[in-house]
Amino acid sequence: MRARFEDRLVAGIQEAVEVEDKITSMPGRRLIAVYPGSFDPLTNGHLDLIERGSRLADELIVAVLKNASKHPLFAVEERLEMIREAASGIANVTADTFDGLLVDYAAKRGANMILRGIRAISDYETELQMALINRRMRPETETVFLMAREEFSFISSRMIKEIITLGGDVAHFVPETVLRRLQAKLISEK
Ligand code: PNS
Repeated sequence: MRARFEDRLVAGIQEAVEVEDKITSMPGRRLIAVYPGSFDPLTNGHLDLIERGSRLADELIVAVLKNASKHPLFAVEERLEMIREAASGIANVTADTFDGLLVDYAAKRGANMILRGIRAISDYETELQMALINRRMRPETETVFLMAREEFSFISSRMIKEIITLGGDVAHFVPETVLRRLQAKLISEK
């Protein structure tokens, strides 16, 4: 009688372990985050968010919006290359492009998290609107915000483009690869 009880106990534990293995190996259990944006170009603020986001998620996909209606400084392919170069040391980060709705892209990639950064209170309103719209369209994908580090809270891609075009120094604000490409672009346009 006692042996039968122990056998049943062992079998029960084995079953529990198998169930747990099944659950933890289910694709939906992994935290896959999409960090979307224009990244024209990538800044140190973006890179900081990528580094911190990569520690929260199992997989972080930096997704560059292909937006034909804007007039970008860098082509989508160049932006991808810069992200890949700057984030090459982070194993769980990849870069990709998307068009259409962000939530559709997140669904296609099996992502359960959208990562966005907030710098100042002025970012909040737009970000809140986007997060609420995205949640209404796809509640399974949670938007998670990280506050920009103080030293990056005033940097934006738009400002960087303006400063470098007007002859200013942006070396402190962008990764090395971006700086080289910005300088090359300016030289080739002179
Ligand atoms: O770096 P940005 O330009 O602030 O990024 C904005 C971005 C790409 C996150 C946003 O425009 C976006 O998600 N566009 C995809 C279209 C979409 O899903 N729109 C509905 C929700 S706002």
